[in-house]
Amino acid sequence: MIKIKNLSKSFDSCQVIKGLSIDIASNSTLVILGRSGVGKSVLLKLIIGVFAPDEGSITIDDLEITSMTKKERFKKLKNIGMLFQGSALFDSMNIEENIGFFLRQHGNLETGKSYSSAEIKDMVGHALEKVGLAGVEEKMPSDLSGGMRKRAGLARLVIYRPTILLYDEPTTGLDPITAMQINDLILEIQEELQATSIVVTHDIISALCVGDRFALHEVGRIIHEDSPDNFMKIDHPTINFLNKTITQDPRTLRRNS
Ligand SMILES: Nc1ncnc2c1ncn2[C@@H]1O[C@H](COP(=O)(O)OP(=O)(O)O)[C@@H](O)[C@H]1O
Ligand SMILES: [Mg+2]
Repeated sequence: MIKIKNLSKSFDSCQVIKGLSIDIASNSTLVILGRSGVGKSVLLKLIIGVFAPDEGSITIDDLEITSMTKKERFKKLKNIGMLFQGSALFDSMNIEENIGFFLRQHGNLETGKSYSSAEIKDMVGHALEKVGLAGVEEKMPSDLSGGMRKRAGLARLVIYRPTILLYDEPTTGLDPITAMQINDLILEIQEELQATSIVVTHDIISALCVGDRFALHEVGRIIHEDSPDNFMKIDHPTINFLNKTITQDPRTLRRNS
């Protein structure tokens, strides 16, 4: 269970997150929909600890993480992982090194023991297989297509079996068929890890595929949260527009039609 209460974050004089509150139930996927620039990525980065909030609290499984130091957070929160927008692979490492990076750095999180190279190789192989990328270990990130990079990012995420998963725009920039494959993988990962997941997106098709709950993020706050069916009935310009994109001939979306 993740509880976010009255969260605020400013950069210089610009307040990006403005008293945002939301709860995310365990073993479920919350989709956060919102237009570009409203602060969705900043919210995820506050949860994973890239940024510290100015005010408010984030509680994960009854641990208040916002008041912890980075070191304490890492010790207590080994089971949280994020797929960054753009996948954030290390350009100078091949795919095997990228995906094994966390294991090499931290070893087995349960026992504290480091893994042998053969063990890491084996685990990387399995993770790549899981995301449909078997055999690309030696390739560099720049050799892969956008969709393959997302899959590699997913392999790097699932390899240490986190139970809190944050996905930042997992389907953005992909063709519709590749996007659907990523949606299927997100569902499979959710089923296997029984995780608490947050998917930030503006892709309504992806949202409908993976979400158990929907939230609308508007300029720094969550203004609606509901089941997907109820959410899609809310009379709000963004939701009305999203409804049109999935039920109408896209040509009716032209400004003067
Ligand atoms: N590290 C940063 N420093 C200053 N401003 C930032 C930083 N990260 C994000 N912002 C600002 O916060 C706002 C929200 O950004 P973001 O969360 O990336 O939006 P989105 O909803 O599209 O993911 C933007 O105006 C952006 O310029
Ligand atoms: Mg973003």
